[in-house]
Amino acid sequence: MSAVVASAPGRVNLIGEHTDYNGGLCLPLALPQRTRVTLTPRTDATLQLTSAQEDDSWQGVVEDRPGGWAAYVAGVVHELREDGHDVPGFEAAVDSDVPLGAGLSSSAALECSVATAIAGMLGLDLEDRGVRRRLATACIRAENDYVGAPTGGMDQTVAMLARPGHALLLDFADDSATPVELPLEEAGLVLLVVDTRVSHALTDGSYGDRREESAAAARALGVPSLRNADLGRIEELDDDVLRRRARHVLTENLRVLAAVGALGDRDWDELGRVLDSSHVSMRDDFEISCRELDLAVETAQATGALGARMTGGGFGGSAVALVPSGSVARVEAAVSAAFGDASLATPAYLEATPGAAARLEAGG
Ligand code: GLA
Repeated sequence: MSAVVASAPGRVNLIGEHTDYNGGLCLPLALPQRTRVTLTPRTDATLQLTSAQEDDSWQGVVEDRPGGWAAYVAGVVHELREDGHDVPGFEAAVDSDVPLGAGLSSSAALECSVATAIAGMLGLDLEDRGVRRRLATACIRAENDYVGAPTGGMDQTVAMLARPGHALLLDFADDSATPVELPLEEAGLVLLVVDTRVSHALTDGSYGDRREESAAAARALGVPSLRNADLGRIEELDDDVLRRRARHVLTENLRVLAAVGALGDRDWDELGRVLDSSHVSMRDDFEISCRELDLAVETAQATGALGARMTGGGFGGSAVALVPSGSVARVEAAVSAAFGDASLATPAYLEATPGAAARLEAGG
């Protein structure tokens, strides 16, 4: 068998945070930034992994359970074998322009590029949405069970199912994925991503704490998941922390629907307001923001953004701001100046145009 090349995108979430593992709604889009992997099959079970972005390479078999970045690759192989696929060993060379540790799902991009390359190698039909769904599920299991990061399914699902020019409305109650047009350019707007350079790790415990608190709130309300809870009943929760966690999740689901409505109406001011209130909810109720994210959001809001919010798992990573294209330079300069005044490292910026899902680039 010859080499197979596949790529998968990073993602940014427009709105709907910490809702995926609560059976809720979110609205991510694929970034133009992608991770590419070149797989060359071997005749034995050994994986030989190198990455242009990492100093350490790794060689071994899946049962060796590597740590670090290699775990995301080995985890996908492990899970696809669990699904009954006859995945051989291979050499994999990874290269990526998805910023690492920026809350833009570099790990899902890696998992999904590897899963797509393996699918190409095995001759699976990547035009079939069911196949893509199953690959996404294997990648989610790789992250949860093999790597040990207790994330939801948003990142892998959008990486496998995204459509250019669209955000994807994901509903984790019925597993539907509905493309929602995102005509930013036509509206003269830019979705500006501000990477605070505060690196976040989904394995460090804080993310898992929120997941446990959400489950505890659902238990206290007597519902299987917060998606089934009634906003009017959360006052019954005696515990102030659980009440605020539940309020975030339930109001965030409503904000996702409001954002989809605003997009349909091309009501960009309303979309901006919804993004702003999502940030307040994450800052005060879910408590996943940090000083740098708040500063990026507040400065963008004060210098011309229609709305802004932190995005992704939180505790660092990136913010998104909806900015008229003529104001992008001003917003970036103001955010950088504010970070300088606060003796913080200068953020990195990128413009999120909705990109394509994982795909085969060559071979297969
Ligand atoms: C991370 C996780 C996702 C999701 C977001 C928060 O990106 O990987 O599953 O929970 O945080 O919305």
